[in-house]
Amino acid sequence: MADMTGPYIPALRFRLLTPLYDPLLKWGLQEERFKQQLIAQAEIGPHMQVLDLGCGTGTLTVLLARAHSQAGLHGLDGDSAVLAIAAAKARHSGVHITWTQGLSHALPYPNNTFQRVTASLMVHHLNRDQKRRTFREVWRVLSPGGELHIADFGPPHSLVTGWMSRIIRRLEETADNLDGLLPFLLAESGFAEIVETGYLTSIVGPLSLYRAVKAPNVGR
Ligand SMILES: C[S@@+](CC[C@H](N)C(=O)[O-])C[C@H]1O[C@@H](n2cnc3c(N)ncnc32)[C@H](O)[C@@H]1O
Repeated sequence: MADMTGPYIPALRFRLLTPLYDPLLKWGLQEERFKQQLIAQAEIGPHMQVLDLGCGTGTLTVLLARAHSQAGLHGLDGDSAVLAIAAAKARHSGVHITWTQGLSHALPYPNNTFQRVTASLMVHHLNRDQKRRTFREVWRVLSPGGELHIADFGPPHSLVTGWMSRIIRRLEETADNLDGLLPFLLAESGFAEIVETGYLTSIVGPLSLYRAVKAPNVGR
């Protein structure tokens, strides 16, 4: 998909590797653990509209749909190949999800559409300008009081993850995450009550979970 603001990084950087994405996540990144944590912290209500940003092969989106069958689930990704895998997964699981091909920094939704947005392992695919534009777009499409829930590389909390970070900061666009800049970029984009809600160590480095809120008394 065309992107005028910088590179587009697919799920495993090279599209040929896409079929390896699900096994790698399952065995290498404690996927189930941090995705369930993200779902729990999002506290999704029965009739909320929920967007899973950079949904990839749809594992989190399907888990969300299973856990919250009365919510409206939407998955967006820039890559049609992963969306095809995601749609097959949803069919197999018998859940209804609306899939959209699009870019996170130019979201194809009206203002105030969603009560929750999740973003798992996608923010480190964006360069700093794309991160800023993405957070502004997420703020725009969230309704007042709506929340963004992120799981992604974060600052190291131990000596071991400190060493790991020195290696992985060269991969993709992880440096801002590892340097702890996400809360600042979120604040710049208008978000309030930004909290690192938890962290864990995976074989590829430190992961953090965040919550950020669009204040209830604002609109755009
Ligand atoms: C590492 S994968 C994560 C997929 C999924 N959220 C998960 O947790 O397994 C990152 C995904 O973000 C998508 N992506 C990268 N940049 C994007 C952008 N600017 N807009 C939308 N999707 C993007 C990629 O195509 C890829 O599927």
